[in-house]
Amino acid sequence: MEFIVLREVNEVYSALSKLKKKDFTLKPKKGNASLSPIQKLNEELYAYTSRKQQEINQLKKIELYRREFLADVSHELKTPIFVAQGYIETLLDGELDDLETTEKFLRKASLTLDGLNNLVQDLVTLSQMESGMITMHTNIFNVCELLGELDDIFEKRLQERNMQLQIIHSLPNCLVEADQARIRQVFFNLIDNAIKYGHEGGEVVITFEDKGERVGVEVRDNGQGIPPQHLDHIFERFYRVEKSRNKLDGGSGLGLAIVKQILEAHDSPITVKSKINEKTTFAFELPKPA
Ligand SMILES: Nc1ncnc2c1ncn2[C@@H]1O[C@H](COP(=O)(O)OP(=O)(O)O)[C@@H](O)[C@H]1O
Ligand SMILES: [Mg+2]
Repeated sequence: MEFIVLREVNEVYSALSKLKKKDFTLKPKKGNASLSPIQKLNEELYAYTSRKQQEINQLKKIELYRREFLADVSHELKTPIFVAQGYIETLLDGELDDLETTEKFLRKASLTLDGLNNLVQDLVTLSQMESGMITMHTNIFNVCELLGELDDIFEKRLQERNMQLQIIHSLPNCLVEADQARIRQVFFNLIDNAIKYGHEGGEVVITFEDKGERVGVEVRDNGQGIPPQHLDHIFERFYRVEKSRNKLDGGSGLGLAIVKQILEAHDSPITVKSKINEKTTFAFELPKPA
């Protein structure tokens, strides 16, 4: 009797020491009615501790994410604030009598603060989406019309870079069922990138393809492309392929992170393919009206 009890208690110990080493491989035998009370206790203890340990690991991951996020945010906010501060301080230090310089500096400070404002707005959107605070409002809308509107908004920038925006589709209608405002933001961010990282005189092509219950969407440009080692990272917040280059363009590095979050909320993962100096293609799907 004593031997049996000791053996079972030993099992409890060995299970616990496995857990201490974060080894969750021990699979308790299920549904065995002939288990002794100590064996049952062992299994329950194991299941409970293992669950708790995994919860703790998850919490630690979240905590790390939170700390990194805060560090990134502070860093990103500091830059534009310093720049704007620099312009204003220079003016206060004595350039104020020169009207032309004053105006130039104030304009630059103002532009920098616009960038800061966009950054903060992106941050708010992203953090609300990540915390699940934003609920999606789905409705049925014509996604081709939506792109027509965006074409108007980007018209000036497309002209400046001598680029074309083309929409290709073979759908009977362009109806999808999704959160219109957010899908608009998805296209806005993707087209914005396609223009920004596209070649002068290049094109942005958006294609819609019938995929049964869903519409396949592709946004493609024939620009500078993304080096393969960066492809896995571009959807991370603040990630930029060339840090300095994009700073000049006022990019926050949050655009694709927002795109990913919005599409995930629509159960649609986004994929990217790219060939250096040839093309970059982003693809995802949208549900058709039920
Ligand atoms: N169409 C594209 N062509 C080439 N590079 C791209 C394209 N879209 C995104 N990228 C790369 O991915 C990075 C992240 O994009 P995004 O999150 O929109 O940030 P950003 O604010 O820099 O535009 C960009 O900095 C850029 O390096
Ligand atoms: Mg962008």
